[in-house]
Amino acid sequence: MTMKIVILFEKIMIKTYAVILIDVLLLLSSIICNIIKEIYKLCMPDAEKSVTGEVVLITGTGHGIGKGLALKYASLGATVVCWDINEQGNNETVEEIKQNGVSRAHGYRCDVSNREEVIETAKKVKKEVGDVTILINNAGIMPTYHFMDHTPEHIKRIFDINVLAHHWILQAFLPNMIQNNYGHIVSISSMAGIFGLPNIVPYCSSKFAVRGLMEALCEELRVQNGGKPLNIKFTTIYPYMVETGLCKKPLYRFQSLQLISIKEAVDAIVKAQRRNIREVSIPSYWLYINSLLRCLPRSCAENASDFLKIGVDVAD
Ligand SMILES: NC(=O)c1ccc[n+]([C@@H]2O[C@H](COP(=O)([O-])OP(=O)(O)OC[C@H]3O[C@@H](n4cnc5c(N)ncnc54)[C@H](O)[C@@H]3O)[C@@H](O)[C@H]2O)c1
Ligand SMILES: *[C@@H]1O[C@H](CO)[C@@H](O)[C@H](O)[C@H]1NC(C)=O
Ligand SMILES: *[C@@H]1O[C@H](CO)[C@@H](O)[C@H](O)[C@H]1NC(C)=O
Repeated sequence: MTMKIVILFEKIMIKTYAVILIDVLLLLSSIICNIIKEIYKLCMPDAEKSVTGEVVLITGTGHGIGKGLALKYASLGATVVCWDINEQGNNETVEEIKQNGVSRAHGYRCDVSNREEVIETAKKVKKEVGDVTILINNAGIMPTYHFMDHTPEHIKRIFDINVLAHHWILQAFLPNMIQNNYGHIVSISSMAGIFGLPNIVPYCSSKFAVRGLMEALCEELRVQNGGKPLNIKFTTIYPYMVETGLCKKPLYRFQSLQLISIKEAVDAIVKAQRRNIREVSIPSYWLYINSLLRCLPRSCAENASDFLKIGVDVAD
């Protein structure tokens, strides 16, 4: 009797091992396939998809990168929906688009950190403009202080705007994208969401959070869709320093390498979105430098940081 049980048990074990072995072989072959595909894509990137007729909602369009993105998408034939807490700056962006001969621009005053306002404004957009097909979470703030000098109000405000707002806006627009199985979600994180920097500790943690949000949400949708490719694309952008004035006292050693123009940043963001690239830094080499340094002892990253004089100084 016990003998029979032992034999049965062994048979089951052998079968289990065989199944695992087959799964491992399948996994390895998929990995090799994907590496080859990605190398091919690196040499022959996807053509930039057209954005004509898309409805692009951008937050923080009253100034800087958001304003640049609104002008660029309008010039490419998209309908743009501009959200900013600063009504005057936002109006100017919409006016500028209209002066360029494009009428498909809509401005809304919205404090993205206010969940009720986000929900209300999203309803208005749906009624007055239609379904948003490209969502760009861009609005953000970056106060610079030594860690102990950040007040509790500062820290909460940074998270309200840089992180929680993304959740409210995504919950407002994602259901429609899922229903249509169509859309693109873009978030502007920062290289400060990839490596930690002095004097902007809460900002760094907020930008790390945006990276986590984007990765987890994309993965959840993939799994919910049974692993099949979804027609809702995700793009997370990690700019280094952009000349918008957001960063009051940038520190750098090589200006042309470390400070980029708004135009350069905007072009890189739009290109990454149109090519469905998951993650990109601006300039693009930063993500590669980071991956390399992460394989080395921590002191090497510190040496590199000291060499490049990376960082931001506290504001006066
Ligand atoms: N400039 C850089 O060096 C840099 C680097 C990396 C990442 N980023 C990120 O890029 C994004 C845009 O930065 P920028 O340099 O263009 O900044 P910016 O200050 O030039 O513009 C930000 C815009 O967001 C708006 N905004 C702020 N709080 C808001 C709120 N509660 N609701 C609605 N709108 C609000 C502001 O009114 C402003 O018009 C931010 O998320 C920033 O963290 C910037
Ligand atoms: C912005 O434009 C809207 C609509 O045209 C207008 O009602 C509002 O008064 C303007 N606000 C500012 C601050 O210019
Ligand atoms: C590099 O880092 C090590 C360890 O922190 C330090 O001792 C060394 O002085 C650094 N080298 C330079 C050139 O900064």
